[in-house]
Amino acid sequence: MAQYDVIIIGGGPGGYNAGIRAGQLGLKVAVVEKRTTLGGTCLNVGCMPSKALLHASELYEAAGGEFATLGIEVKPKLNLVQMMKQKADSVTALTKGIEFLFKKNKVEWIKGAGKIAGPGKVEVTAEDGSVTALEAKDIVIATGSEPTPLPGVTIDQERIVDSTGALSLPEVPKSLIVIGAGIIGLELGSVWRRLGSKVTVVEFLDRITPGMDAETAKTFQRSLTKQGVEFKLGAKVTGATASKKGVSLTVEPVAGGAAETLEAEYVLVAIGRRPYTEGLGLENVGITPDKRGFIETDHFKTSAPGVWAIGDAIHGPMLAHKAEEDSVACIEIIAGKYGHVDYNLVPSVVYTYPEVAWVGQTEEQLKDAGVAYKVGKFPFSANSRAKINHETDGFAKVLADAKTDEILGVHIVGPQAGEMIGEYCVAMAFKAASEDIARVCHPHPTRSEAGRQAAMGVEGWTMQA
Ligand code: FAD
Ligand code: NAI
Repeated sequence: MAQYDVIIIGGGPGGYNAGIRAGQLGLKVAVVEKRTTLGGTCLNVGCMPSKALLHASELYEAAGGEFATLGIEVKPKLNLVQMMKQKADSVTALTKGIEFLFKKNKVEWIKGAGKIAGPGKVEVTAEDGSVTALEAKDIVIATGSEPTPLPGVTIDQERIVDSTGALSLPEVPKSLIVIGAGIIGLELGSVWRRLGSKVTVVEFLDRITPGMDAETAKTFQRSLTKQGVEFKLGAKVTGATASKKGVSLTVEPVAGGAAETLEAEYVLVAIGRRPYTEGLGLENVGITPDKRGFIETDHFKTSAPGVWAIGDAIHGPMLAHKAEEDSVACIEIIAGKYGHVDYNLVPSVVYTYPEVAWVGQTEEQLKDAGVAYKVGKFPFSANSRAKINHETDGFAKVLADAKTDEILGVHIVGPQAGEMIGEYCVAMAFKAASEDIARVCHPHPTRSEAGRQAAMGVEGWTMQA
């Protein structure tokens, strides 16, 4: 029977990074992955294909509108087949890249579905049905997550799709209803709106993107509305009927009132994701997931000795970079080193136009916790680079402790916000005060100056607005 130091089940950002780190530390490691390619949800049907379509659709829309403002007159013609092909080619290059990294770091990829058969034992069922038994001192669960189903709305991946279906629609829908105003709904809704769909977003709550700073979410919603996205907030979908031509949805106000019927060619269900642990054999080592399906852990240790869990399968933000942080810390602990993740410093980015990026606490969280804080805010409409680029939507906001001036949260809504947030992750990791940012020279003309001006605003000496 093959023996390993560590067997990792799942080859996504949690699992593949865990494999690579284990290889680097000289552990004998295998990653069990049942897909035909490595990279998990993120590379195959998540982060990467969605960003490929967001990038291409943003340029398509700009070519049909904003380019003319810049004096570039073109008439773009959509070639959806090519757009999908370049997406698929990029995904293949990325997943092959992980195979290369596995070879380089001596990580063995065992193809098939992994099941924990008992303490230190993993069984892998290959596509042809053959079963291989493996043994390891430590087992890491990195099996990720799957879309949460919505009762009464059956995903058929034809007319009613989840994120995976929405990444590969065969045509531009004339109309698309998105259920859920979260990150997936707004990113993929943006893709199809830019390509020509009429997009309506139905959201249960009375606001979009729960978890995002409320003022930032309002500005973001205003910007999406200006672009033509329609929102039905405080509304719940109670049923759906799909035909060959489209979908009929029954929607009721959450607060009570008359139901209405909405029609669309396609419906995207994006109401969240849940941990995926089907067929994993958790019962064989006495692990019971919590009510929402998450595996409970203490510094990645599960209740079963020698079994660890990371990424989307455990609590915390369901993000690729969080899974990656988990993976490194978990493997370093297994290897007898020190591993730690500061979940307060895991940034979030919504890759729409404008982008939204944040790290640390929201104003609502600070108020709830009774923390006294000061706010510095700077609009991109006063930032020279944003003006020159005709991209003035949004603002940067810095929240700092009223007494110590330590930065507690940063919220940016504007193009390239995702590229700007890294500076604040580093600053906050070093416990920077807002004045530390305010006193650092930033390059001119860049959007990063808006972040600095926001930091100056905490002490009331913003100079450019
Ligand atoms: P996964 O990536 O889900 O990987 C788990 C792997 O385990 C899968 O490949 C699965 O096949 C395999 N597996 C499961 N069970 C078994 C088994 N029993 N045996 C063998 N293999 C098994 N995050 C970001 O940070 N940025 C983004 O821009 C972003 N965009 C996204 C867009 C979409 C449309 C979606 C759906 C998600 C997006 N995410 C994004 C979230 C991100 O994809 C996840 O947080 C991340 O993939 C989680 O990594 P993971 O390793 O925990 O799990
Ligand atoms: P989400 O949790 O971000 O948003 C789901 C939305 O659906 C919420 O606004 C919620 O209130 C709403 N909702 C729930 N039930 C509903 C119902 N019955 N009817 C109407 N609305 C309902 O989940 P989403 O968008 O599915 O994404 C899942 C996760 O994937 C994200 O939380 C994120 O962790 C990850 N992701 C990250 C991306 C990024 O980092 N850029 C991109 C895409 C996904």
